[in-house]
Amino acid sequence: MHILCALLLAFLVLGHSSSALNKLWEEWKIKHSKVYDNQTEIVFRRAVWEKNKLLVLRHNQEASAGKHSFTMGVNHLADMTADEINEKMNGLKLEEAVQFGNSTFRQVSGLSVPQSVDWRKYGMVSPVQNQGLCGSCWAFSSLGALEGQMKKQTGALVPLSPQNLVDCSTNDGNLGCRGGYISKSYSYIIRNGGVDSESFYPYEHQNGKCRYSVKGKAGYCANFHILPQGDEKTLQAVVGSVGPVAVAVNAMLPSFHLYRGGLYNVPNCNPRFINHAVLVVGYGTDGGQDFWLVKNSWGTAWGEEGFIRIARNKGNLCGIASFAVYPTL
Ligand SMILES: *[C@@H]1O[C@H](CO)[C@@H](O)[C@H](O)[C@H]1NC(C)=O
Ligand SMILES: *[C@@H]1O[C@H](CO)[C@@H](O)[C@H](O)[C@H]1NC(C)=O
Repeated sequence: MHILCALLLAFLVLGHSSSALNKLWEEWKIKHSKVYDNQTEIVFRRAVWEKNKLLVLRHNQEASAGKHSFTMGVNHLADMTADEINEKMNGLKLEEAVQFGNSTFRQVSGLSVPQSVDWRKYGMVSPVQNQGLCGSCWAFSSLGALEGQMKKQTGALVPLSPQNLVDCSTNDGNLGCRGGYISKSYSYIIRNGGVDSESFYPYEHQNGKCRYSVKGKAGYCANFHILPQGDEKTLQAVVGSVGPVAVAVNAMLPSFHLYRGGLYNVPNCNPRFINHAVLVVGYGTDGGQDFWLVKNSWGTAWGEEGFIRIARNKGNLCGIASFAVYPTL
């Protein structure tokens, strides 16, 4: 019944004949290489896609009327419901809260904190990857921060292997594609004495047997530091002076899933409901609005070539500073 309503509404609002909509659907499937198993699945995915398409259309109409500072798009996730995306792709474990008490960051006074920074310009950020239908965000996020520190140390930016962490860090408390922790990624790398490069141990979108080899080792760390909870000023100081920082965010809302570009400023993005790990690679101010520059692992078809700008100094919006961690070599 619900689906039928959405379909009818989509038809009215889009003002397309159903054949025009069919054409858009066929084009979208080709663009994103979508293949479905059976007719039931096709009908369901099409209905979800139409519902999302309508959501995007409405949002973008409101955005052009000045009601929102970002646009949404019918991206490769548009055939999934919000619940499915949250279940299959977020996978950051929340029990990390038990470690909030042990902030291991020592406040350093007199740091020179730039007004803005974009570590991509310094070659500290590897290309955006796509985690696929695997809850491995924690691996991409933690390695992103380590890649930056390795680049600082060695002068070379070498993409590190999330698959290595997915397959090998279960003894440290991670659950592969079923989810994991930023801190436990570093615990593994410290215990293991290193992590392989992406090129040596490529990503497979699913759990596999542990195949770590010291021959492919391209990263290591000795320690990691958890920033004070919810403190955007300290996060800014660390991002500005140290480099990219692994963070957790609330990525539960459809507006996040279908984010296309602009400043993500959604007042109901609750900082306590964090479920996804990403990487802060910079910050700045645009048209008087402070933002965090954030790298996601949902491919370059999502957001601004795989990145999102999240409103900064808006009361820890989406929990951007709720759990921030960086490694030291
Ligand atoms: C259709 O495909 C979906 C998704 O792969 C699957 O879960 C479902 O069991 C299939 N249904 C039938 C009738 O084969
Ligand atoms: C947090 O503190 C406890 C007690 O001092 C310690 O056992 C634990 O290893 C610490 N956790 C981290 C992540 O540093």
